[in-house]
Amino acid sequence: MKTLVILISGRGSNMQALLDAKLPVDRIIVISSNPAAVGLETAANNRVQTVCINHQTFSDRSAFDTALADEIDRYQPDLIALAGFMRILTDDFVLHYHQRLMNIHPSLLPAFPGLHTHRRALRDGVKIHGCTVHFVTRELDHGPIVIQAAVPVFSDDTEESLAKRVLEQEHQIYPQAVRWFLQGRVRLSANAVTIADSRVHNSVIYSPGLQE
Ligand code: GRF
Repeated sequence: MKTLVILISGRGSNMQALLDAKLPVDRIIVISSNPAAVGLETAANNRVQTVCINHQTFSDRSAFDTALADEIDRYQPDLIALAGFMRILTDDFVLHYHQRLMNIHPSLLPAFPGLHTHRRALRDGVKIHGCTVHFVTRELDHGPIVIQAAVPVFSDDTEESLAKRVLEQEHQIYPQAVRWFLQGRVRLSANAVTIADSRVHNSVIYSPGLQE
């Protein structure tokens, strides 16, 4: 029995993409750090089990992470997918879920870790931007890269238009990465990920239209 836990804090569009993807999983649980997260309602509408662990009711990050891990461990998930989860996790939490904690980040890492990635990409005048699915390590927005998608940056782009273009790709690559993981095809060695039996060698840049 395969179990996926999805952690959210807000809108939940990546969560929705994971729910829509009909992943090879028996059980999905969505946990939000924010009781007002729109994604909680979306998950419930999809008849997915939801839990809220309100981070504001904890005295510090460590207490929150302990409660979160206690809840997650009740389900013994194969994978925990961060999908717009806006909390920085403690080292203990990250180590506890070593090699089964994934994140999606709206930039081509290692460029633009942290917040406001689209604004920074425009400010720096990059011509290619994108998104990354990676394993979570103790360093923020770092860790072995599973898949990336690149998009062009146009001269008349705004933060919003660029974010929209990137988000469309996020919704493609996150389900793909999670599917590979649940199929047992993700090989992690040192800091590099390869995908077993993949036509997409080493899961490099995702091209829209390239299905597998
Ligand atoms: C996405 O851009 C994701 O890459 C980042 O936070 C945003 C969450 O959006 N980590 P949503 O909640 O999935 O719609």
